[in-house]
Amino acid sequence: MNKKDTSNSPTLLEAVSPHILPPLPYAENALEPVMTGKTMSFHYGKHHKGYVDNLNKLIAGTEYADLSLEKIMSSTAGRPEKTAIFNNAAQTWNHTFYWKSMKPKGGGEPPAAFKQRIEASFDSVDACKKEIASVAVSQFGSGWAWLVIESGKLKVIKTANADSPLTMDMKPLLTIDVWEHAYYLDYQNRRADYVNAVLDKLINWEFVLQNAG
Ligand code: FE2
Repeated sequence: MNKKDTSNSPTLLEAVSPHILPPLPYAENALEPVMTGKTMSFHYGKHHKGYVDNLNKLIAGTEYADLSLEKIMSSTAGRPEKTAIFNNAAQTWNHTFYWKSMKPKGGGEPPAAFKQRIEASFDSVDACKKEIASVAVSQFGSGWAWLVIESGKLKVIKTANADSPLTMDMKPLLTIDVWEHAYYLDYQNRRADYVNAVLDKLINWEFVLQNAG
């Protein structure tokens, strides 16, 4: 992580300190059976909330106290002495983006205009999904799989830990959380089953299209 331009940022969060845990866009059990309410309860109510709470504690009384989440990320990315602030800000942002990347009864085919764009970059929607799954499964340890636009082109990438394409000169379109806390209660060590289930049944293609602009 070394570039800090967030001009590609999708409209997501503009909140300033104290940062709030944004409401889920659906009920905690709305993504069952792919993602159980128990997983959502821990993931959203404990992990995501924990990042927000930690961030607020870390920035209280500092130069970051009145900055937007995205500005905090861009101001701390690649600075080892600010790692704790970056990690908690980015994890707050990434999780909100992840919840929006899914919806009940999602998956299926993307909208026609975006489907053509995917086919131009990956040959087919299936090939695109396979690449996302491959990247998600191959991420060693905790991290995220992303569909992004970089230099005008669709691309699939992975990031480690809290790292986010938002601070890497890329426009994020879609993400899948591959931290173990995202799937272990429901899928144990079967990360591929979790990722494929999300891709087939939960992806919110309208959100992807909206981010692509
Ligand atoms: Fe997570």
